[in-house]
Amino acid sequence: MIFDYNPIPSRSVFGKNSALKLKEEIISLGGKRVMIACSKGMTKRITAIIQSLDDLLVTIYDGAKPHCPEEVAMAALDLYKKKKADCIVAIGGGSTIGIGKAIALRTNAKFIVIVTSPCGSESTPIHGMLIGKEKKTGRDKRVIAKTSIYDPILTTSMSAHHTATIGMNSLAHCIEALYAKVKNPISDQFAISGIKALITGIPESIKNPNNLNARSNVLYGGMLSGYCVTLAGIAIHHKLCHVLGGHHGIEHGSSNSVILPYAVAYNERAAPEAMEIIKKTMGTTSASGGIYDFARKIGVPKSLMELGMCEGDLDRAAQEILKKTFNNPKKLVEKSVRELLQQAFEGKRPVPF
Ligand SMILES: [Fe+2]
Repeated sequence: MIFDYNPIPSRSVFGKNSALKLKEEIISLGGKRVMIACSKGMTKRITAIIQSLDDLLVTIYDGAKPHCPEEVAMAALDLYKKKKADCIVAIGGGSTIGIGKAIALRTNAKFIVIVTSPCGSESTPIHGMLIGKEKKTGRDKRVIAKTSIYDPILTTSMSAHHTATIGMNSLAHCIEALYAKVKNPISDQFAISGIKALITGIPESIKNPNNLNARSNVLYGGMLSGYCVTLAGIAIHHKLCHVLGGHHGIEHGSSNSVILPYAVAYNERAAPEAMEIIKKTMGTTSASGGIYDFARKIGVPKSLMELGMCEGDLDRAAQEILKKTFNNPKKLVEKSVRELLQQAFEGKRPVPF
Protein backbone atom coordinates (compact mmCIF):
# COMPACT_ATOMS: atom_id res chain seq x y z
CA MET A 1 0.00 0.00 0.00
CA ILE A 2 1.54 3.31 -1.07
CA PHE A 3 -0.16 6.67 -0.64
CA ASP A 4 0.17 10.24 0.69
CA TYR A 5 -2.39 11.66 3.05
CA ASN A 6 -2.66 15.25 4.26
CA PRO A 7 -5.42 15.98 6.79
CA ILE A 8 -7.72 18.78 5.69
CA PRO A 9 -6.76 21.96 7.60
CA SER A 10 -10.27 23.01 8.54
CA ARG A 11 -12.24 23.03 11.77
CA SER A 12 -15.80 21.67 11.60
CA VAL A 13 -18.51 22.70 14.05
CA PHE A 14 -21.52 20.46 13.72
CA GLY A 15 -24.96 20.43 15.35
CA LYS A 16 -28.31 22.03 16.06
CA ASN A 17 -27.92 25.81 16.70
CA SER A 18 -24.19 25.66 15.92
CA ALA A 19 -24.64 28.73 13.68
CA LEU A 20 -25.15 30.78 16.83
CA LYS A 21 -21.56 29.98 17.79
CA LEU A 22 -20.34 32.07 14.85
CA LYS A 23 -19.24 35.03 16.96
CA GLU A 24 -17.00 32.90 19.19
CA GLU A 25 -15.52 31.20 16.13
CA ILE A 26 -14.73 34.61 14.58
CA ILE A 27 -13.11 35.82 17.80
CA SER A 28 -11.06 32.64 18.13
CA LEU A 29 -9.61 33.32 14.66
CA GLY A 30 -8.88 36.94 15.61
CA GLY A 31 -11.52 38.49 13.33
CA LYS A 32 -12.60 42.04 14.19
CA ARG A 33 -14.38 43.35 11.08
CA VAL A 34 -16.71 40.86 9.43
CA MET A 35 -18.33 40.82 6.02
CA ILE A 36 -21.10 38.29 5.37
CA ALA A 37 -21.58 37.01 1.82
CA CYS A 38 -24.86 35.36 0.85
CA SER A 39 -27.48 35.33 -1.87
CA LYS A 40 -30.48 37.63 -2.13
CA GLY A 41 -33.24 36.58 0.24
CA MET A 42 -30.87 34.79 2.61
CA THR A 43 -30.66 37.76 5.02
CA LYS A 44 -34.28 37.13 6.10
CA ARG A 45 -33.32 33.58 7.13
CA ILE A 46 -30.25 34.58 9.12
CA THR A 47 -31.46 37.52 11.22
CA ALA A 48 -30.55 35.73 14.47
CA ILE A 49 -27.01 35.13 13.16
CA ILE A 50 -26.68 38.76 12.04
CA GLN A 51 -27.86 40.05 15.41
CA SER A 52 -25.52 37.71 17.27
CA LEU A 53 -22.48 39.39 15.69
CA ASP A 54 -23.22 42.84 17.22
CA ASP A 55 -20.65 45.42 16.09
CA LEU A 56 -18.29 42.80 14.58
CA LEU A 57 -20.38 42.92 11.41
CA VAL A 58 -19.36 45.74 9.07
CA THR A 59 -21.23 44.82 5.90
CA ILE A 60 -23.29 42.22 4.03
CA TYR A 61 -22.86 41.38 0.35
CA ASP A 62 -26.01 39.59 -0.82
CA GLY A 63 -25.32 39.29 -4.56
CA ALA A 64 -24.17 35.63 -4.82
CA LYS A 65 -25.21 34.03 -8.12
CA PRO A 66 -24.98 30.47 -9.52
CA HIS A 67 -21.53 29.34 -10.73
CA CYS A 68 -19.93 32.41 -9.06
CA PRO A 69 -19.53 34.77 -12.04
CA GLU A 70 -16.26 36.76 -11.99
CA GLU A 71 -18.01 40.15 -11.82
CA VAL A 72 -19.99 39.04 -8.75
CA ALA A 73 -16.89 37.81 -6.91
CA MET A 74 -14.93 40.94 -7.80
CA ALA A 75 -17.76 43.23 -6.63
CA ALA A 76 -17.75 41.38 -3.30
CA LEU A 77 -13.95 41.72 -3.08
CA ASP A 78 -14.20 45.47 -3.72
CA LEU A 79 -16.76 45.85 -0.94
CA TYR A 80 -14.63 43.74 1.44
CA LYS A 81 -11.63 46.02 0.81
CA LYS A 82 -13.67 49.24 0.98
CA LYS A 83 -15.05 48.27 4.37
CA LYS A 84 -11.59 47.23 5.60
CA ALA A 85 -12.98 43.85 6.67
CA ASP A 86 -10.62 41.16 7.99
CA CYS A 87 -13.01 38.20 8.07
CA ILE A 88 -15.35 36.84 5.39
CA VAL A 89 -18.26 34.64 6.44
CA ALA A 90 -19.94 32.90 3.50
CA ILE A 91 -23.44 31.67 4.35
CA GLY A 92 -24.91 29.41 1.68
CA GLY A 93 -23.74 26.78 -0.79
CA GLY A 94 -21.12 26.46 -3.51
CA SER A 95 -21.80 29.76 -5.28
CA THR A 96 -21.61 31.82 -2.09
CA ILE A 97 -18.61 29.87 -0.84
CA GLY A 98 -17.03 30.73 -4.22
CA ILE A 99 -17.16 34.41 -3.23
CA GLY A 100 -15.50 33.64 0.10
CA LYS A 101 -12.79 31.69 -1.72
CA ALA A 102 -12.17 34.53 -4.19
CA ILE A 103 -11.66 36.88 -1.24
CA ALA A 104 -9.57 34.42 0.81
CA LEU A 105 -7.29 33.88 -2.19
CA ARG A 106 -6.65 37.59 -2.73
CA THR A 107 -6.45 38.87 0.87
CA ASN A 108 -5.45 37.58 4.29
CA ALA A 109 -9.12 37.16 5.21
CA LYS A 110 -10.13 34.83 8.00
CA PHE A 111 -12.53 32.60 6.11
CA ILE A 112 -15.55 31.00 7.75
CA VAL A 113 -18.44 29.16 6.08
CA ILE A 114 -21.90 28.41 7.39
CA VAL A 115 -23.17 25.67 5.11
CA THR A 116 -26.86 25.94 4.23
CA SER A 117 -26.70 24.05 0.93
CA PRO A 118 -24.26 21.19 1.39
CA CYS A 119 -21.75 20.38 -1.33
CA GLY A 120 -18.38 20.11 0.43
CA SER A 121 -16.87 23.13 -1.29
CA GLU A 122 -15.87 24.69 2.05
CA SER A 123 -13.19 22.06 2.65
CA THR A 124 -11.69 21.82 -0.82
CA PRO A 125 -8.73 23.79 -2.18
CA ILE A 126 -10.55 24.12 -5.51
CA HIS A 127 -11.72 27.61 -6.35
CA GLY A 128 -13.55 28.67 -9.46
CA MET A 129 -15.35 31.46 -11.22
CA LEU A 130 -17.44 31.70 -14.31
CA ILE A 131 -15.40 33.80 -16.70
CA GLY A 132 -17.47 34.41 -19.82
CA LYS A 133 -18.91 30.97 -20.49
CA GLU A 134 -16.02 29.02 -19.05
CA LYS A 135 -15.80 27.77 -15.48
CA LYS A 136 -12.14 28.41 -14.64
CA THR A 137 -10.87 26.49 -11.64
CA GLY A 138 -7.62 26.42 -9.70
CA ARG A 139 -6.25 24.83 -6.53
CA ASP A 140 -4.90 26.68 -3.53
CA LYS A 141 -4.93 25.69 0.15
CA ARG A 142 -5.71 29.28 1.17
CA VAL A 143 -9.30 28.84 -0.05
CA ILE A 144 -10.11 26.07 2.43
CA ALA A 145 -12.37 27.59 5.09
CA LYS A 146 -10.62 27.91 8.47
CA THR A 147 -13.89 26.99 10.17
CA SER A 148 -17.05 25.44 8.72
CA ILE A 149 -20.32 25.42 10.62
CA TYR A 150 -23.03 22.86 9.91
CA ASP A 151 -26.38 23.64 11.53
CA PRO A 152 -29.22 21.38 10.34
CA ILE A 153 -31.86 23.94 11.36
CA LEU A 154 -30.66 26.21 8.54
CA THR A 155 -31.34 23.49 5.97
CA THR A 156 -34.94 22.61 6.89
CA SER A 157 -36.33 25.18 4.45
CA MET A 158 -34.54 23.59 1.48
CA SER A 159 -37.11 22.44 -1.07
CA ALA A 160 -37.44 18.76 -1.95
CA HIS A 161 -36.02 19.48 -5.42
CA HIS A 162 -32.99 21.34 -4.07
CA THR A 163 -32.38 18.74 -1.35
CA ALA A 164 -32.40 16.02 -3.99
CA THR A 165 -30.27 17.72 -6.65
CA ILE A 166 -27.69 19.17 -4.28
CA GLY A 167 -27.62 15.76 -2.59
CA MET A 168 -26.80 14.14 -5.94
CA ASN A 169 -23.89 16.59 -6.24
CA SER A 170 -22.50 15.44 -2.87
CA LEU A 171 -23.16 11.81 -3.80
CA ALA A 172 -21.24 12.34 -7.04
CA HIS A 173 -18.21 13.72 -5.14
CA CYS A 174 -18.18 10.56 -3.00
CA ILE A 175 -18.78 8.14 -5.88
CA GLU A 176 -16.09 9.74 -8.05
CA ALA A 177 -13.57 9.52 -5.23
CA LEU A 178 -13.93 5.73 -5.35
CA TYR A 179 -12.80 5.44 -8.98
CA ALA A 180 -10.56 8.53 -9.38
CA LYS A 181 -6.98 7.58 -10.17
CA VAL A 182 -5.42 9.47 -7.22
CA LYS A 183 -7.71 8.05 -4.54
CA ASN A 184 -6.33 6.46 -1.38
CA PRO A 185 -7.66 4.14 1.37
CA ILE A 186 -8.66 7.09 3.56
CA SER A 187 -10.62 8.85 0.82
CA ASP A 188 -12.36 5.49 0.25
CA GLN A 189 -13.54 5.51 3.88
CA PHE A 190 -14.81 9.09 3.64
CA ALA A 191 -16.61 8.16 0.40
CA ILE A 192 -18.28 5.08 1.89
CA SER A 193 -19.45 6.99 4.98
CA GLY A 194 -20.62 9.88 2.79
CA ILE A 195 -22.63 7.60 0.50
CA LYS A 196 -24.29 5.89 3.49
CA ALA A 197 -25.23 9.23 5.07
CA LEU A 198 -26.61 10.61 1.79
CA ILE A 199 -28.65 7.64 0.65
CA THR A 200 -30.48 7.61 3.97
CA GLY A 201 -30.54 11.36 4.64
CA ILE A 202 -31.77 12.61 1.26
CA PRO A 203 -35.00 10.54 1.01
CA GLU A 204 -35.81 11.10 4.70
CA SER A 205 -35.27 14.87 4.36
CA ILE A 206 -37.61 14.96 1.37
CA LYS A 207 -40.25 12.99 3.25
CA ASN A 208 -39.94 15.05 6.43
CA PRO A 209 -38.15 18.38 5.88
CA ASN A 210 -37.97 19.09 9.63
CA ASN A 211 -36.25 15.82 10.51
CA LEU A 212 -32.97 17.15 11.91
CA ASN A 213 -31.31 13.73 11.94
CA ALA A 214 -32.00 13.37 8.23
CA ARG A 215 -30.86 16.94 7.55
CA SER A 216 -27.70 16.28 9.58
CA ASN A 217 -26.99 13.20 7.46
CA VAL A 218 -27.22 15.29 4.29
CA LEU A 219 -24.90 17.91 5.80
CA TYR A 220 -22.49 15.22 7.01
CA GLY A 221 -22.48 13.51 3.61
CA GLY A 222 -21.87 16.90 1.99
CA MET A 223 -18.97 17.60 4.33
CA LEU A 224 -17.38 14.22 3.63
CA SER A 225 -17.94 14.73 -0.09
CA GLY A 226 -15.69 17.80 0.15
CA TYR A 227 -13.01 15.71 1.83
CA CYS A 228 -13.34 13.25 -1.05
CA VAL A 229 -12.79 15.97 -3.65
CA THR A 230 -9.78 17.29 -1.75
CA LEU A 231 -8.15 13.88 -1.36
CA ALA A 232 -9.12 12.18 -4.63
CA GLY A 233 -10.00 15.02 -7.02
CA ILE A 234 -12.67 14.89 -9.69
CA ALA A 235 -12.95 12.84 -12.86
CA ILE A 236 -15.15 12.61 -15.94
CA HIS A 237 -18.42 13.19 -14.11
CA HIS A 238 -17.59 16.55 -12.60
CA LYS A 239 -15.65 17.80 -15.58
CA LEU A 240 -18.74 17.07 -17.69
CA CYS A 241 -20.95 18.92 -15.21
CA HIS A 242 -18.63 21.95 -15.45
CA VAL A 243 -18.90 21.89 -19.26
CA LEU A 244 -22.69 21.59 -19.05
CA GLY A 245 -22.82 24.44 -16.54
CA GLY A 246 -20.40 26.83 -18.22
CA HIS A 247 -21.25 26.31 -21.89
CA HIS A 248 -24.85 25.16 -21.69
CA GLY A 249 -26.19 26.96 -18.60
CA ILE A 250 -27.29 23.82 -16.75
CA GLU A 251 -27.49 24.27 -12.99
CA HIS A 252 -24.88 22.20 -11.11
CA GLY A 253 -27.20 20.03 -9.00
CA SER A 254 -29.35 19.20 -12.03
CA SER A 255 -26.40 18.24 -14.23
CA ASN A 256 -25.05 16.06 -11.42
CA SER A 257 -28.44 14.40 -11.05
CA VAL A 258 -28.64 13.44 -14.70
CA ILE A 259 -25.00 12.62 -15.48
CA LEU A 260 -23.92 10.52 -12.49
CA PRO A 261 -25.40 7.13 -13.51
CA TYR A 262 -23.88 7.48 -17.00
CA ALA A 263 -20.46 8.61 -15.77
CA VAL A 264 -20.42 5.53 -13.52
CA ALA A 265 -21.52 3.35 -16.45
CA TYR A 266 -18.65 4.83 -18.48
CA ASN A 267 -16.17 3.60 -15.84
CA GLU A 268 -18.03 0.43 -14.86
CA ARG A 269 -15.66 -2.04 -16.53
CA ALA A 270 -12.52 0.08 -16.02
CA ALA A 271 -12.87 0.34 -12.22
CA PRO A 272 -14.30 -2.98 -10.97
CA GLU A 273 -13.12 -2.59 -7.36
CA ALA A 274 -14.79 0.80 -7.01
CA MET A 275 -17.99 -0.63 -8.51
CA GLU A 276 -18.00 -3.45 -5.93
CA ILE A 277 -17.74 -0.87 -3.12
CA ILE A 278 -20.58 1.19 -4.63
CA LYS A 279 -22.80 -1.90 -4.99
CA LYS A 280 -22.10 -3.07 -1.45
CA THR A 281 -22.59 0.40 0.07
CA MET A 282 -25.80 1.08 -1.84
CA GLY A 283 -27.13 -2.48 -1.55
CA THR A 284 -27.60 -2.92 -5.28
CA THR A 285 -26.54 -5.40 -7.96
CA SER A 286 -25.37 -2.77 -10.46
CA ALA A 287 -23.39 0.39 -9.64
CA SER A 288 -24.74 2.58 -12.45
CA GLY A 289 -28.20 0.96 -12.27
CA GLY A 290 -28.35 1.42 -8.49
CA ILE A 291 -27.53 5.12 -8.79
CA TYR A 292 -30.08 5.46 -11.60
CA ASP A 293 -32.74 3.86 -9.38
CA PHE A 294 -31.81 6.05 -6.41
CA ALA A 295 -32.12 9.14 -8.62
CA ARG A 296 -35.64 8.05 -9.65
CA LYS A 297 -36.53 7.40 -6.00
CA ILE A 298 -35.68 10.98 -4.97
CA GLY A 299 -37.30 12.48 -8.07
CA VAL A 300 -34.40 14.37 -9.65
CA PRO A 301 -34.39 15.31 -13.37
CA LYS A 302 -33.83 12.26 -15.54
CA SER A 303 -32.38 13.49 -18.83
CA LEU A 304 -30.50 16.33 -20.49
CA MET A 305 -33.55 16.65 -22.74
CA GLU A 306 -35.66 17.39 -19.66
CA LEU A 307 -33.11 20.05 -18.66
CA GLY A 308 -33.63 21.80 -21.99
CA MET A 309 -30.39 20.80 -23.70
CA CYS A 310 -30.52 20.53 -27.51
CA GLU A 311 -29.46 17.23 -29.03
CA GLY A 312 -27.48 19.25 -31.57
CA ASP A 313 -25.20 20.52 -28.76
CA LEU A 314 -24.05 17.05 -27.67
CA ASP A 315 -21.20 16.87 -30.21
CA ARG A 316 -19.76 20.15 -28.98
CA ALA A 317 -20.08 19.12 -25.33
CA ALA A 318 -18.20 15.86 -26.08
CA GLN A 319 -15.41 17.82 -27.76
CA GLU A 320 -15.19 20.34 -24.92
CA ILE A 321 -14.77 17.64 -22.30
CA LEU A 322 -11.85 16.13 -24.20
CA LYS A 323 -9.92 19.39 -23.75
CA LYS A 324 -9.88 18.84 -19.97
CA THR A 325 -7.22 17.03 -18.00
CA PHE A 326 -8.10 13.74 -16.41
CA ASN A 327 -8.10 11.69 -13.28
CA ASN A 328 -10.42 9.11 -14.83
CA PRO A 329 -9.83 5.34 -14.89
CA LYS A 330 -11.15 4.84 -18.44
CA LYS A 331 -9.46 6.73 -21.24
CA LEU A 332 -11.60 9.44 -22.74
CA VAL A 333 -12.53 8.70 -26.32
CA GLU A 334 -14.74 11.15 -28.18
CA LYS A 335 -17.04 8.47 -29.60
CA SER A 336 -17.64 6.93 -26.16
CA VAL A 337 -18.14 10.29 -24.43
CA ARG A 338 -20.64 11.20 -27.15
CA GLU A 339 -22.45 7.91 -26.44
CA LEU A 340 -22.47 8.73 -22.70
CA LEU A 341 -24.06 12.08 -23.51
CA GLN A 342 -26.62 10.44 -25.81
CA GLN A 343 -27.67 8.08 -23.03
CA ALA A 344 -27.90 11.02 -20.62
CA PHE A 345 -29.86 13.03 -23.17
CA GLU A 346 -32.44 10.28 -23.47
CA GLY A 347 -32.50 9.39 -19.76
CA LYS A 348 -32.81 5.65 -20.32
CA ARG A 349 -31.35 3.09 -17.95
CA PRO A 350 -27.53 3.33 -18.35
CA VAL A 351 -25.69 0.70 -20.34
CA PRO A 352 -22.16 -0.03 -19.02
CA PHE A 353 -19.34 0.73 -21.45
FE1 LIG B 1 -19.93 19.46 -7.50
